[in-house]
Amino acid sequence: MSRYLVTGCAGFIGSHLAEALLAEGHDVVGLDSFSDYYPRSVKEENVAAARAGERFRLLEADLAEEPLERHLAGVAGIFHLAAQPGVRGSWGTSFAQYVRDNLLATQRLLEAASAARARVVFASSSSVYGNAAAYPTPEDTRPRPISPYGVTKLGCEHLAAAYAAETGADVVVLRYFTVYGPRQRPDMAFTRIVRALVEGAEFRVFGTGEQSRDVTYVADAVSAAIAAMERAPAGAVYNVGGGTEASLREVVAILERLAGRRLDARHEAAAAGDVRRTAADTSRIRAELGWAPTTSLEQGLEAQLAWAAATVAPR
Ligand SMILES: NC(=O)c1ccc[n+]([C@@H]2O[C@H](COP(=O)([O-])OP(=O)(O)OC[C@H]3O[C@@H](n4cnc5c(N)ncnc54)[C@H](O)[C@@H]3O)[C@@H](O)[C@H]2O)c1
Repeated sequence: MSRYLVTGCAGFIGSHLAEALLAEGHDVVGLDSFSDYYPRSVKEENVAAARAGERFRLLEADLAEEPLERHLAGVAGIFHLAAQPGVRGSWGTSFAQYVRDNLLATQRLLEAASAARARVVFASSSSVYGNAAAYPTPEDTRPRPISPYGVTKLGCEHLAAAYAAETGADVVVLRYFTVYGPRQRPDMAFTRIVRALVEGAEFRVFGTGEQSRDVTYVADAVSAAIAAMERAPAGAVYNVGGGTEASLREVVAILERLAGRRLDARHEAAAAGDVRRTAADTSRIRAELGWAPTTSLEQGLEAQLAWAAATVAPR
């Protein structure tokens, strides 16, 4: 059994990953700054189950400032999920936060990981592709992000490649395609939809609802990260996509059927930086790591709706 560092452990994906590692018998040091992008109380809830385990230690620290070397003794690998996420908020003055929590934090982590010779599995994003030249999109498609957020994630990938080339850093990049499921971030569409259904509140749709995403259930995102840590070749870059492409309209229709209720939707202008479509070509990760998603869209949406029903008070 190994000890792993999970950055962003109080976030959506990081909290599920920490729990999965603990369930496999590993020790986990979870690092998170509890940034104020969404409420601290939500992050405390996210990390509560992992925190209850004896083999979990929570470190409240900011990657952009914390001296990291001392936390890496005995650490077999680092899952780097901490970030300032979100496409829509990355324009304007808030870009400084994206530079700090994505670029600066990742550069500091790569310095420390190189010195400690610890593998890093980095959570990148399908947003590096922008409106891609090919669908489904293979990893060697030229990345052309159309949001400042996507630019910082691509910048992190380039930093990882530079550290790999010049310091021997061992980094595996996972480009996640829209991850969903219980604990999905409050700013993301599926959480806003399931909450609106449970509360009987209004849902604001950005754009026509025809925009489509390849969506990935969180347990599948977690199993890809663990597979990458255990058996990916150094320097590998993989798309991680659930294999079902669905438009927002289709997702709303499934959730309305599951909830037995109509959604009160209000259409607004499309958000700058939102791509029209994502579709992952996952043949590389399937062939090299033997990874495949196992949760259907219907099952995943059912789980997310059940989570919302259990955590949100109806009006
Ligand atoms: N959720 C998705 O659909 C998706 C898709 C593609 C990529 N990703 C990437 O996966 C990762 C996790 O995403 P998520 O949806 O779980 O986000 P999240 O916001 O729920 O989790 C990120 C966590 O990182 C922490 N954090 C931010 N800046 C920090 C810093 N400087 N030091 C320490 N901790 C810091 C936050 O407090 C937060 O708890 C991110 O890197 C994100 O860019 C997510």
